[in-house]
Amino acid sequence: VDEPPHSFISNSLSVDAQTLQKQINELSTFSDTSSPSVTRVLYTEKDVLARRYIKNLMGLAGLSVREDAVGNIFGRWDGFEPELTAVATGSHIDAIPYSGKYDGVVGVLGAIEAINALKRSGFKPKRSLEIILFTSEEPTRFGISCLGSRLLAGDVALAKALKTTVDGQNISFLDAARSAGYARDEDNLSSVFLKKGSYSAFVELHIEQGPILEEEGVSIGIVTAIAAPASIKVDFEGNGGHAGAVLMPNRNDAGLAAAELALAVEKHVLESGSVDTVGTVGILELHPGAINSIPSKSHLKIDTRDIDEKRRNVVIQKIHESAITIARKRKVTLSEFNIINQDPPVLSEKSIIEAMEAASKELNLTQKFMISRAYHDSLFMARISPMGMIFIPCYKGYSHKPEEYASTEDIANGVKVLALTLVKLSLH
Ligand code: GLV
Ligand code: MN
Ligand code: MN
Ligand code: MN
Repeated sequence: VDEPPHSFISNSLSVDAQTLQKQINELSTFSDTSSPSVTRVLYTEKDVLARRYIKNLMGLAGLSVREDAVGNIFGRWDGFEPELTAVATGSHIDAIPYSGKYDGVVGVLGAIEAINALKRSGFKPKRSLEIILFTSEEPTRFGISCLGSRLLAGDVALAKALKTTVDGQNISFLDAARSAGYARDEDNLSSVFLKKGSYSAFVELHIEQGPILEEEGVSIGIVTAIAAPASIKVDFEGNGGHAGAVLMPNRNDAGLAAAELALAVEKHVLESGSVDTVGTVGILELHPGAINSIPSKSHLKIDTRDIDEKRRNVVIQKIHESAITIARKRKVTLSEFNIINQDPPVLSEKSIIEAMEAASKELNLTQKFMISRAYHDSLFMARISPMGMIFIPCYKGYSHKPEEYASTEDIANGVKVLALTLVKLSLH
């Protein structure tokens, strides 16, 4: 009687770490760049093949599989009280160019293995358990991050904008979705929206993408909050011209305006005075992109984040002011300054934090409370469901590059904590 209530499950939980590792390796071969890098972009052939791989595993796990109009994939294990709201878990499998094989994937394949382990243990869920594969957590193709989870959370403006959104090749979002078998007979993406309260809890398992757990030798990170991300799109336009013939006083170089703005981003971020404020210019494109032609157009995408929303918004404001000043000074046009997203941070739900904490204690794993500096679909699921996240260590904190790595043992620990957390939330 003194035993923790679910100790029979924590004792009989056996995660098949070898098979899971094999699946992670297999999934990484659906890539447009060669190993060890992974590139898997929304609705491409490789993305469609990877989705098929996941749906097959969900089927083998005995889950009933459903997909919505943008390709969020749901695999459900019915509880013995199926009229109760379900408990959900999941993550993404899209991978930014030249990234690694664990980001997102651990939270999808790991969730399937968690369900398999629970089935092997003889557990029967009371609330249904549902795995969600989110469409396009990464902003690679259409510029907007967490596309699937934003829509699930009922983002009306995004549903409308996607009707006219195109990618870098001028392929429309809807055509791309259709080529992957989605959005067949509807332009109405509001069919994707879920009602608030559709889930009683949402938990995401993910690699930390930072160095803390590894450095401190801790097995499990329990996420208490997710930092506030924002992204901005900027275009400058000048007259361009011949790199030899146009003398320096007569130029209005759009490329130099972009370079100056990139440095201004760094300056404004540092001015915040907090290590928690970060800013990155990850995209900087020049047109026409010829060595002997003065850039007539430049294009930047700026990512800035903070755990403090106000402080991050001050940075955005300063970046905007700099863009205007630089354009004036350099006699170029600031033809676009568009804040693509400016999301508030979110807190994990106390009851889910407690469930994750109890689960990792029962499994005798070391744990640490921490914030997530990366964003996740959990940021948006939190708008419609109580939310929590489980982190596992990753090598040197590497992520968004091919060297990303998490050990089979750390992954297995994360899957066990996820499984036991689902047990608790399902019976709750
Ligand atoms: C997600 O990939 C992020 O950039 O945090
Ligand atoms: Mn990522
Ligand atoms: Mn991720
Ligand atoms: Mn992410």
